[in-house]
Amino acid sequence: MKQKIKALRGMPDILPEEARIWQQAEDTARAIFCQYGYEEIRTPIIEETALFKRSIGEETDIVQKQMYSFKDRGDRDIALRPEGTASIVRAYLEHNLGKILPVSKFYYIGPMFRNERPQAGRLRQFHQVGAEAIGSFSPYLDAEVISLMMKILKACGLDSTELKINTLGCAKDKKAFEQALKKALAGRLNCLCEDCVKRYERNILRVFDCKNESCRQILRAAPKIIDHLCPGCRNNFSQIKTMLASAGIKYIITPSLVRGLDYYTGAVFEVSHRNLGSQDAVAAGGRYDNLIEDMGGGMTPACGFAIGTDRLLIAAKDNIKAKKAGIDLFLIGLGDEAQKRVFSILTDLRNKGISCQMGLDEKSLKSQMRLADRVEAKRVLIIGDEELKKGRVVLRDMENKSQKEIRLEDVSNTHLW
Ligand code: HAM
Repeated sequence: MKQKIKALRGMPDILPEEARIWQQAEDTARAIFCQYGYEEIRTPIIEETALFKRSIGEETDIVQKQMYSFKDRGDRDIALRPEGTASIVRAYLEHNLGKILPVSKFYYIGPMFRNERPQAGRLRQFHQVGAEAIGSFSPYLDAEVISLMMKILKACGLDSTELKINTLGCAKDKKAFEQALKKALAGRLNCLCEDCVKRYERNILRVFDCKNESCRQILRAAPKIIDHLCPGCRNNFSQIKTMLASAGIKYIITPSLVRGLDYYTGAVFEVSHRNLGSQDAVAAGGRYDNLIEDMGGGMTPACGFAIGTDRLLIAAKDNIKAKKAGIDLFLIGLGDEAQKRVFSILTDLRNKGISCQMGLDEKSLKSQMRLADRVEAKRVLIIGDEELKKGRVVLRDMENKSQKEIRLEDVSNTHLW
């Protein structure tokens, strides 16, 4: 036998039984997006590498360590998308989508790629259900985006989530805070871990992601962004908090929440769940008021979120039940003539919207009945060559195990099914 080829590490298959649950979750999300006025957008999985470098940031872990980027046969630098926001912004600018409505609201569902070390809840091909709302500074939009995210999580069966929120202030506040932090940590560099020393030089806010207890202790005494906000940003953040409270959404203010992508300014948030262990973020997002300008557009505020579907389904697994697969009818033909007739009935009923299947290679009635059971057929129609001549067939109800004869000509009556 030839050697079998396996799927790549961290890029699992989603098999039919599981895919049913995925469909349910995605359908739930779609219905809620529709209710909030968000429209689907589908962008390519591969983009120019420069798009992600410029938006997510050259110095971020995603760009430095995790992006699948390579040269294609035309010597172009391209990358598998590590997230959705950059592509949505590119499409928004490329197609002038801002001309249609004052606030453009998009959602997307699809795979993303990051070359991280695979572990439970951390994959190399993972999936996001995300939303981006582009065109308003209003804190109502932040509140809407957060409430939309929380609503989808809940509707998909996720209880007991923890929503952490913070603000990075406007670009000016963020810069001022980075400088204050640099100044405060300058004398403590010899006490920080090697990684934090690098972060200090290249992307100082990332020090807040350090898991090292000694670094964390130093950071507990470090300046907080909340104390470096301009009056406008302070007022904005307090309005968002008020609106979340009025929508009944509980949150925890988390000054160390800075997010791993450079494009954020203003409110940022992350949702975690205790079922997820060390990879506990199930969804995250925030404002990115400067990104569209940085990508070549005019000054256009925006905010959004992405839910990690793989993690959502791990965390909610005890609360989600896949709908039964099942079919309306299984047709059994015993004999060549009967089998031909079964095929034409099958075609007719399928055209009328009835879900049905027929046995193919199974010869005996017993093996066909076993198959009907396995595909969870509600009813079985048994047609033998003899019955065919008499114009009568046997209809068996698989739930109550009763059986009766019906006229062949009645089979195509959909009210029967
Ligand atoms: P992110 O925090 O990088 O944000 O990813 C969002 C979510 O995707 C995470 O909370 C997590 O659930 C899931 N995720 C990320 N990496 C992995 C992985 N390797 N394996 C499994 N799940 C993963 C963004 O991507 C931003 N684009 C969100 C956003 C939209 N901000 C504004 N708009």
